[in-house]
Amino acid sequence: MDNSSSSAARPALVTEDPELLDQLLRLCAAASVTPDVVDGATRRRQAWARACTVLVGVDQAPAMARLGLTRRDHVVLVSQGVDPAPLWKLAVELRADEVVMLPADQHRLIDHLSDLADGGGRATTVGVIGGCGGAGASTVAAALALTSARSGRRSLLVDADPLAGGIELLVGCEDCAGLRWPEVAATEGRVSASAFRAALPTLGTLPVLSWDRAGPRRTPPGVMHAMVGAAQRGAELVVVDLPRSLDEAGTEALFLSDTLVLVATSEVRGVAAARSVLATLREMSGDVRVVVREIAGSDLTPDAVANALDLPLVGTVATQRCVARAVNDGLGPLGRGALERVCRAVLDTLAGRTPTA
Ligand SMILES: Nc1ncnc2c1ncn2[C@@H]1O[C@H](COP(=O)(O)OP(=O)(O)O)[C@@H](O)[C@H]1O
Ligand SMILES: [Mg+2]
Repeated sequence: MDNSSSSAARPALVTEDPELLDQLLRLCAAASVTPDVVDGATRRRQAWARACTVLVGVDQAPAMARLGLTRRDHVVLVSQGVDPAPLWKLAVELRADEVVMLPADQHRLIDHLSDLADGGGRATTVGVIGGCGGAGASTVAAALALTSARSGRRSLLVDADPLAGGIELLVGCEDCAGLRWPEVAATEGRVSASAFRAALPTLGTLPVLSWDRAGPRRTPPGVMHAMVGAAQRGAELVVVDLPRSLDEAGTEALFLSDTLVLVATSEVRGVAAARSVLATLREMSGDVRVVVREIAGSDLTPDAVANALDLPLVGTVATQRCVARAVNDGLGPLGRGALERVCRAVLDTLAGRTPTA
């Protein structure tokens, strides 16, 4: 069946060279996309108007150019030759925006196909890190991702702290089927965003990549890069729960974050510890903000904490027994109250990228 939405999501292949067609089909399979092989002037005109990308074999480039088609994006001229010079004239006639020589450029073509299949976007990525042990960073990270997902954004939560027992216990999806870090630990390189989302345990509409309580305690940075990359291509917001003691993979995740949220407690020692963490963060990120968890009995106000750290204050979280109980019982952070308010403030801040107190 060929309705317009399914053909729009597919790349169109235009070639009558069986060897080139074979190669292109193989590369489409590697990018997890199903192409339409189009022949005949009418189908080619339709594909030109609808397909997400049109891959034109050098053998059919003159014929396509003769159709007098309007200019469009994502037209790729593909050749198995080794000399790119003669291709440029054809590329200009076809108004192609890329020329690909196979097999040399096959990885570039796979990337191009995967990007289009995934929608071509990249999620805003926020890293959450605790100023001291038990500050409540993982709770904020989980609540942020859940609040974002509940508001209808495609979101994804990544647990980048291998020594914290798995964020799945905090959100309560440890019994859900799906992949955990140890199972993806051998995967480097390009990962399809849609396949990645589908493979993870999901809480409502929120996929979660969590550590478990077994297996290797390390992720190579290349794997972190591939997983956060896939998360970013398939979502609007990615929340990464960062470890305080940054390993190589944690550092990679930090570099992939657009904004860092430091969760500091309103205690003298909490602020002192947060300062040390911040010294490292400032070297690696230009956008760090603070959420203050208020501790009963402390005289330090959230503003005083933010001032001491010289960071914009995004919001405050009260220490609430019901939050501690819900997290401990694996019910996840609550979907209302102070925690939700601070999450909304963070989301607003990310949308406008302006600090709000
Ligand atoms: N807003 C809160 N109110 C009460 N308890 C909280 C709150 N946030 C976190 N906690 C409790 O503090 C402990 C540590 O929280 P966690 O989010 O894992 O901190 P971190 O990731 O900074 O180490 C947990 O037992 C959790 O129940
Ligand atoms: Mg934590």
